[in-house]
Amino acid sequence: MEFTEFRVKTRVVAGWNLSGSLDIELARADLERGLVVTDPGVLPLAERLLSAAHHRLIGVYDSVTPNSEVGQVEQLADRAREEGARFLLAVGGGSVIDTAKAAAIVLTEDGHLLDHQGVNVLNRPLFPVAAVPTTAGTGSEVTGYAVIRDKGAASKVVFTSEWLAPVLAVLDPALTLGLPPGLTAATGMDALTHAVEAYLSNRAGPFSDALALAALETIYRYLPQAVRDGSDREARWHLLIASCQAGMAISWAMLGCCHALAHACGGWREVPHGVANAILLPHCLEYNRPVAETRWWTLADAMGADPVKGVAALARRIGLPTRLSEVGVTESDLEPLAESAILDGSIYTNPREATLEELAEILRAAY
Ligand SMILES: [Fe+2]
Repeated sequence: MEFTEFRVKTRVVAGWNLSGSLDIELARADLERGLVVTDPGVLPLAERLLSAAHHRLIGVYDSVTPNSEVGQVEQLADRAREEGARFLLAVGGGSVIDTAKAAAIVLTEDGHLLDHQGVNVLNRPLFPVAAVPTTAGTGSEVTGYAVIRDKGAASKVVFTSEWLAPVLAVLDPALTLGLPPGLTAATGMDALTHAVEAYLSNRAGPFSDALALAALETIYRYLPQAVRDGSDREARWHLLIASCQAGMAISWAMLGCCHALAHACGGWREVPHGVANAILLPHCLEYNRPVAETRWWTLADAMGADPVKGVAALARRIGLPTRLSEVGVTESDLEPLAESAILDGSIYTNPREATLEELAEILRAAY
């Protein structure tokens, strides 16, 4: 008999200008004494939220950088301890939310952050995190993943556990209205890659399939619209919902070789995560095509195009680079990147078991 399972640990609420009534949502979730976690770019918004929900929030930590690192996570955890915070409210993109999730590990478990990397090492409730995403991309507001850069090893460390999922996600598309085209394009392609990899994953199930296909169809349709006109409310709403759906899909089905390679590019050369995915995805699709069988045609149906050509054309249309050589990767990087990718947890759910040489070949094709 077949078996399947699905759950979303996060309570998700979505609505225009919902962040303005954040205090109500925090009260419903019984969250008080929260430290806001953000980056300098999002600080003005975070301060607005702090004053709107000042009964439930105690301060702001605004030092998160684009590829957040282990040291920063520890700094945030120290600050939360000093201030007697009882939850973290992440307001920002993937790096901000992942930094808060990783700090929750330090605030709950003994030992060093890096002791807890890997799959299901964390197996009890963690210090609570609530998330207000300001990009439509990572889906980190609902996933059980946190990805942090280990500067010393020049690699990305992935923490995976259902307990990492935030307790509350507040989706307010108004917060994404001002995002510049480049960031909209890159984060949107990250979400699209989540949908595609979840659907082709060897762990895919009927519930993750439904979420992945709905997300894929929506992102493929609305991303160019949001890049062209950042104030398009219809496109912004659909993209924020779809990136969250894709996050739910990968929470169960997990990822594949594209994310393994993108994590390596991010750790090694700090290539922005969405840009790395956009460059690599057509080549990873080509690689996985022989084992995709009927799923290939369902992908094609959802996109109304051949998956490889459709993804490559979309990335070009929204102005993203199409080669690794354009984003600071050198030819001598390709071998170590493949070596790093084969150790990444995302590789285990790729539908085709990739060898080191095959990963290097994908990188050469994308170079
Ligand atoms: Fe991603």
